[in-house]
Amino acid sequence: MSATSLLRSGFETGGIPIGQDVLSPRVIYQNPTPRQLANHLFPLTHQGNGISTETNEERQVKLMKDLLSRYTQNLPPPKSNKPQPLHEGQTVLLTGTTGSLGAYMLDRLCRMDSVKRIVALNRGQDGGRSRQPSINTFRNLTLDFSKVEFLESDLSKPDLGLGQDNKYNQLLATADRIVHNAWPVNFNISVASFEPHIRGVRHLIDFAAVAAKAVVLVFISSIGELDGWPSERGPVPEQRIDELTLAQMGYGRSKLVGSLMVATAAKQSDIPAASVRAGQIAGPERKEGIWNPQEFLPSLVASSVYLGILPESLGPFQVVDRIPVEDVAELTLDIAGATLPVSTSEISGYFHAVNPATTEWSELAVAIKDFYGDRIAKLVSLEEFVVRLEESSTKGTDVEKNPGVKLIDTYRSFLAAEQAGHGHVTFETTRTKALSPTARRLGKITPELMKNWCEQWGF
Ligand SMILES: NC(=O)c1ccc[n+]([C@@H]2O[C@H](COP(=O)([O-])OP(=O)(O)OC[C@H]3O[C@@H](n4cnc5c(N)ncnc54)[C@H](OP(=O)(O)O)[C@@H]3O)[C@@H](O)[C@H]2O)c1
Repeated sequence: MSATSLLRSGFETGGIPIGQDVLSPRVIYQNPTPRQLANHLFPLTHQGNGISTETNEERQVKLMKDLLSRYTQNLPPPKSNKPQPLHEGQTVLLTGTTGSLGAYMLDRLCRMDSVKRIVALNRGQDGGRSRQPSINTFRNLTLDFSKVEFLESDLSKPDLGLGQDNKYNQLLATADRIVHNAWPVNFNISVASFEPHIRGVRHLIDFAAVAAKAVVLVFISSIGELDGWPSERGPVPEQRIDELTLAQMGYGRSKLVGSLMVATAAKQSDIPAASVRAGQIAGPERKEGIWNPQEFLPSLVASSVYLGILPESLGPFQVVDRIPVEDVAELTLDIAGATLPVSTSEISGYFHAVNPATTEWSELAVAIKDFYGDRIAKLVSLEEFVVRLEESSTKGTDVEKNPGVKLIDTYRSFLAAEQAGHGHVTFETTRTKALSPTARRLGKITPELMKNWCEQWGF
């Protein structure tokens, strides 16, 4: 924040007024080296001088095109007559079991009779074996890992970093399904920084294409791949969307490239592969566990307790279509055909892990205020909340207790969207409901669930 203020005042002193969107903390994170930042800012200060006026957005889109074309070159040819993946006695490869969603998927797979073996692919020397027990204990998830083989992996390597012991070949012979969940959930880095992970998607595609069986590949993407979808266009369809400009942050761009690679490979290499565009995942339904307090909504609640005011509207997030994490895990495994037998021909294209049963933020805001009692004196407009948060950030605030100051940009963008009249973007769920019993039975987020999360956060 201080870097942006210093730079902005420098520009202003030089007679170059510069907007908040042009020079925000996010721009600094997206251009992490002095050279990248200079390349971003220089054209803005020399417009009309015959110097390239290519914007940062244009450069990022070019890079996405380049990544997409590079990692969809020479896709493996289709292999005919492959046997179908097993349902009874299946082997599932799951990446990122040490994360939140991954831990819930691992738990569910461990409890399924039809699953014979789970191969947990994680970074770190023992493939997550030593970390998983405490991750699961905290969430009240299983500690019976008798079916799980934890393997250290590096997906950016062609053999998935599995090294010696012929492990890669053993997995090629036995795998039935891959759920690719591991990804840096980092909104501050550029798409270029995600390249090792994009390369990892290609390596999993290569694996699925040459595996003995018609291995199912499910890639967990994000609705962030279409951040710029205007609500006026109506609901986002459950299909491939090639408009690269719709992704607006490095994270969403990386997911868009990854999912387009999967869609391209599904066709060209004839593999049963699909992407799940996951919406923002809510906390757990059970008492144990926690909704990551670093995320924008928990941070907003923490800052509301600190400031004593809670916004009663959230702009484009006024409609709450989140799904508790257990259900996102179950829905994803439904789509992958792990929970119930599904024909591989149905596992293709895009699905949406977004709750068809919605509620209004204002209803949940009342529940939060009720939970905190006097500590939240009143509900205010989003504008008043943003102004108060900005004021607090200039007074040397306690960032631990007031973490929303780190996300001011985000909340400002909600306000700008609200003021511009941009509404909530709806995601179609017809295909998802057709394949996933979990999606069909989802209920809306209730005030009671919201209070459960407040209890867990302990702000
Ligand atoms: N949370 C959401 O609201 C949301 C919404 C839409 C989509 N998603 C997607 O859902 C998936 C799971 O998200 P989550 O909320 O469960 O995230 P999380 O708790 O941060 O877990 C991320 C997982 O990915 C692994 N990972 C992160 N960076 C890595 C790296 N550089 N190399 C190897 N592994 C790495 C982590 O391993 P370590 O334990 O070693 O760090 C962890 O196992 C991600 O693909 C995410 O993009 C999440």
